Amino acid sequence: MKIAVMGFGVVGSGVVKLIQKNAPVIRENTGAFLEVKRILDIRDFDGSEFAPLMTKSFSDIENDDEIEVVVETMGGLNPAFDFVSRCLKKKKHVVSSNKELVAQKGFELLALARENNVNFLFEASVGGGIPIIRPLSRCLAGNRIDAIAGILNGTTNFIMTKMIMERTDFSSALALAQKLGYAEKDPTADVEGLDACRKICILASLVFGNHIYPEKVHTEGITGITLADMELAERFGYVIKLIAQAKKLEDGRLYIIVSPALVPKESMLAPVNDVFNACLVQGDMTGDILLYGKGAGSSATASAVVGDIIDCADNLEKRKFFGWKEEKEGQIEDYLNIPVSLFVRVKNEKDARQKVESLFNGARIIESESKAELGFITGEEAEGALREKLSDSGLTVLSSIRVTSY
Ligand code: HSE
Repeated sequence: MKIAVMGFGVVGSGVVKLIQKNAPVIRENTGAFLEVKRILDIRDFDGSEFAPLMTKSFSDIENDDEIEVVVETMGGLNPAFDFVSRCLKKKKHVVSSNKELVAQKGFELLALARENNVNFLFEASVGGGIPIIRPLSRCLAGNRIDAIAGILNGTTNFIMTKMIMERTDFSSALALAQKLGYAEKDPTADVEGLDACRKICILASLVFGNHIYPEKVHTEGITGITLADMELAERFGYVIKLIAQAKKLEDGRLYIIVSPALVPKESMLAPVNDVFNACLVQGDMTGDILLYGKGAGSSATASAVVGDIIDCADNLEKRKFFGWKEEKEGQIEDYLNIPVSLFVRVKNEKDARQKVESLFNGARIIESESKAELGFITGEEAEGALREKLSDSGLTVLSSIRVTSY
């Protein structure tokens, strides 16, 4: 089966190399013989062993009827959306690793794929090499999924792990993540939580059935998290992680949020360190399941792309039953109405302890090592009300971070 790859960056080159190296194994395992016929990239790759396959012209792929599956690893919306749409209209199956594309245009592209009786698959868009889209859409299809909570961004998990383990600051940990190729070119999407937001939107759309757009999801990144927060949280028996979570509420609406959160040390998510990702899925039949593995990097992500290509090879003449419906207005509950506990770090000023004790009855209070600060964890209350109480408390609040129960 002939394939084209659009975008010869970290993931695209990983896909081409994986197929080159493992084509015989893939054939033996699946019966599919994969051959990369064309690689699209605007850059020059003179001297590369793949130079004969390179093209800068999309029409070389669009108009080549021999190419049955197109891999999109360009990233971004433009021109990826246009190219993918045109490939689907030409009745080519498309496999994408592009979370921005799927999170923003998933519903449209799935509909276009359906109209043209081809598949649009995107296992690699969430969790790098971790099989997650297929398990959610197939293996767990006999469950009602109540909630998903994950560490879905390798860069921020790497940064936070380095900060606490090596007592280092945010910027040196970020520089190392970039050097190792985990962070996006512009790390803003990683550190501000947008990358994790796109991924939880994809998972939640799949699990709960309607498209969820990233701009509708309250998202906080990790730039405000300090080593002081992490050290004090540690004294309470928690680690701080960037958690993306989505949960079905009793009225059928969704609580969906991306933010740093305290995770109890006993949680399955707590030992997920470095560039690893994990996604906790709560099914009504299975109970808790943890999908864990490398969430970023060339070969891990390429593995997920190739899994989808093989799925296309198995389903060349038909469309898989897969996808979700359009956005449902009002499906997301305002996060400020949801009851949460907060971990709060305040200045240990005169009367601070008494104020905490009277306002947050029963809260456990722990001093920082230097005794200059106090930390406490509130009981559960609607987040908006809790934040109002804090701002009227007279305490000098240094940070306040949600506590998860996952
Ligand atoms: N920048 C992303 C991450 C890459 O760090 O998780 C994988 O999507």
